[in-house]
Amino acid sequence: MHAFEPDRSLPKPELYRELLAAADALTSGEPDPVANMANLAALIWQFVPDLNWAGFYRLLAGELVLGPFCGKPACIRIPLGQGVCGTAAAERSTQLVADVQAFPGHIACDAASRSELVVPLLRDGGSVIAVLDLDSPLPGRFDSEDKAGIEAIAALAASRV
Ligand code: SME
Repeated sequence: MHAFEPDRSLPKPELYRELLAAADALTSGEPDPVANMANLAALIWQFVPDLNWAGFYRLLAGELVLGPFCGKPACIRIPLGQGVCGTAAAERSTQLVADVQAFPGHIACDAASRSELVVPLLRDGGSVIAVLDLDSPLPGRFDSEDKAGIEAIAALAASRV
């Protein structure tokens, strides 16, 4: 099996470049979406410091349904437009939330979560197929470099899941 050894002390843009290359290598040629989401969640968990949750919600029959992830067990179904994940899916846009307690309707699956980054996975015409959700116990954990890095992973994931 592939052995990826991230150097977490790298500057963030480089760390995300390595993560993207690892994600590409790990999912290339594998058609199974669950296998690819599971490995992508595990890679993000391994590469990105200070997370308490990283994983996918899939858009199925008009609601978000829990997919492969790393972290504690989480809410299973999230209606479109609710919480940070439901907002990202409904608005088809990345949500970078520095303080989840200040986000109206935030869904507290894990009380430890303080900040959150959620990126939609868009297929061809721009329709949402899933969201990629990262949570951190640190307030203000995510910045524009994390947003750019995870958006690149989400774009790759959209073609592999
Ligand atoms: N906090 C999210 C729910 C999902 S979990 O954090 C894993 C939200 O408000 O959408």
